[in-house]
Amino acid sequence: MTETLTPKLKISHLLGMENVSREDITLMLDTGMSFREVLERPIKKVPTLNGKTIVNLFFESSTRTRIAFELAERRLSADVVNFAASGSSVSKGETFKDTVKNIEAMKIDMIVVRHESPGVPQFLTRISDATIINAGDGAHEHPTQALLDMMTIREKFGKLEKLRVCLVGDISHSRVALSNIYGLKTMGAKVSVCGPKTMMPKFVEQLGVNVYYNIDDVIHDGVDVLNVLRIQRERLHAVLFPSNEEYNKYFGVTKKRLGKSSKPITILHPGPINRDVEISADVADSEHSLILHQVLNGVAVRMGILFLLGTKGKAN
Ligand code: CP
Repeated sequence: MTETLTPKLKISHLLGMENVSREDITLMLDTGMSFREVLERPIKKVPTLNGKTIVNLFFESSTRTRIAFELAERRLSADVVNFAASGSSVSKGETFKDTVKNIEAMKIDMIVVRHESPGVPQFLTRISDATIINAGDGAHEHPTQALLDMMTIREKFGKLEKLRVCLVGDISHSRVALSNIYGLKTMGAKVSVCGPKTMMPKFVEQLGVNVYYNIDDVIHDGVDVLNVLRIQRERLHAVLFPSNEEYNKYFGVTKKRLGKSSKPITILHPGPINRDVEISADVADSEHSLILHQVLNGVAVRMGILFLLGTKGKAN
C-alpha cells in the first residue's frame, strides 16, 4: 500500500465507535483486509511507519490486544515502547498525567492506551499532542475489538447490512458490547443483546437493540452470529449470579442449544474465554467458531488503523 493511494479518515484519534461514520469504518475494515496479505508473507514487514514512535500504555492486563498492537506496530516498522503500570514509577506515586507528560517529552507520535477508567483516552487527547488509540477503557469502549469483530463477520458473510448479530452475556460491564453495538448499528446490522437481568444496563433499548433474557429465544428467533462475552469479574462489585454452573445452565452457549437452530450459527468471542461457563469447550473449538480467526484479524485491522492514523496529515 502506498501513501499516494491513501484515502483519509475523518477521525484523528480512535477513542470509541460512537459517532464513527460508516465511511470511516469501511475504510478501516478494507485497509485491515489489505494488510492480511502482509501477514501471509515469509517476511511480514512493510516500511509504512518507519520513523514513527508508538507507546503502548497498558494499565490493565491484556494478552490479545497488547500483543496484536505490538505485532502490528513492528510489522509496520514503527519504533515500539511498551509501558506496563506494574514495574513503573506509578508504584512510587507518579500520577497518570505526569507519567504521560514524561513519556511525551521523549518525542513520541502515537499512544495506544488501556486503562480501567472510562474516558482516559479522551483525557489523553487534552494533555498530549500524540495520536490516541483506545485499547479498552473500563466498561466503556473497546473500538479495535469491535472493528476486528466486524472484519471477521464481514469476511464470513460478505456484508454486515441486515445480518442478525446477538451479543450474549455480561452486557453491563462489557466495553466490547458497547463498541460492537455502535459499530454494527452504523453498518446496518440488526443487533440484539441477551443476558441475565442483573447484567443488563438500564435503558439498553435506547441503543436501538432488541433485548433478550433467554438465550433459547435468540436461537429460536434466528440469528446469524452469536458474539459471546465473558463475565467481567474484575468489574463486579456484587454477586450477580449464583454460580458458574447456574450461569452455564441458563446462558451458556452449548452444542445442545445451538442444535435447536435450523442453520449453523457463527460463534465469536473476544477472549479470554471461560470454557464451560459462558461457552462450552466443544462450541469454542467447533467448525463454526471464528475465535482464533478474530485474533488473526486483530493484528491486520490494527495495522490498518495504525497506518491510516499514523499517516494522516501527510500530503498525498
Ligand atoms: N479481547 C481482549 O481485549 O483481550 P485481552 O484482554 O487479552 O487484550
